[in-house]
Amino acid sequence: MIVVFGSLNVDLVTAVERLPGAGETVIGPAYELHPGGKGANQALAARRAGAEVVLVGAVGRDGFADIALSLLAADGVDLSDVARVEAPTGAAFIAVDAAGSNQIVVAAGANALARADALASLSLGEGDILLLQREVPEAECLVAARRMKRAGGRVILNLAPAGPPADELLDCLDILIVNEHEALVLAQSLGWLEREPDAIARRCDAERGIACIATLGADGAVGWHGGVCRRLAAPTVAVVDTVAAGDSFTGAFAAALSAGFGFSGALQRGLAAGSLACTVAGAQPSVPRREAIEAMVG
Ligand code: ADP
Ligand code: NA
Repeated sequence: MIVVFGSLNVDLVTAVERLPGAGETVIGPAYELHPGGKGANQALAARRAGAEVVLVGAVGRDGFADIALSLLAADGVDLSDVARVEAPTGAAFIAVDAAGSNQIVVAAGANALARADALASLSLGEGDILLLQREVPEAECLVAARRMKRAGGRVILNLAPAGPPADELLDCLDILIVNEHEALVLAQSLGWLEREPDAIARRCDAERGIACIATLGADGAVGWHGGVCRRLAAPTVAVVDTVAAGDSFTGAFAAALSAGFGFSGALQRGLAAGSLACTVAGAQPSVPRREAIEAMVG
């Protein structure tokens, strides 16, 4: 089983000619409303990649909650530990300009009230994986991580959105997943002078004993695990947008580990999923399924 402790959001996406500056108003023609949030996206990605997935988090008692839960429910993510709390469902306000650059404001809302208590009622064991990101309170992530370690399972942190991880949380991790920017933030927060994702991942593995994967966009990923380096190219695809590429990578990677694949096999499947997500517009609709991932791995 994979337990995702993380965020659920709705994404409000508006196309604009250009992004606003401070104090400025720009007008777009309409907006689209989609389910999102890194916790939700990664839970869906792990589920579609074939895993049994429990999502622990919080939504409000509002109409946005149903939208946030819609695709997760359709695909069979266990949502019985998503609490309904007295705060608005989390929302991301996303403006996308004509060149495809974006500006995002996230209102945490209910995600700020997400609590790890629910893990106490799950029967966790050695084969289980806890998957964390950085959109719910870190103190609660730590509670969840310690519980999973006590149960003998593995803990994976995707350091997104970028920010410095607490040292106590690092101490609970088996695997850390970062993109190039998050790798730099990690290095800075640890006082490391390395600037290359490869060197940062290597040091994380060697010094902290945390296997580390740096995803490199179209260049694939590099992973260090037990002093061994694996560098894999991303499959070449026709890119529509890269939305949810990182979430698809992380969810599919965790699902492959959960299915018994080793580090390399899981890395391959994460890359295939990330690249497949780039071939379809949007976030959750672009998250690929196991059949497509296995077909691409070949
Ligand atoms: P994030 O979305 O978190 O910034 P990356 O940009 O590193 O993460 O992308 C994660 C994964 O998605 C990559 O490792 C790769 O498999 C896939 N990917 C991202 N961008 C591309 C691209 N332009 N072409 C092919 N695959 C891509
Ligand atoms: Na996409």
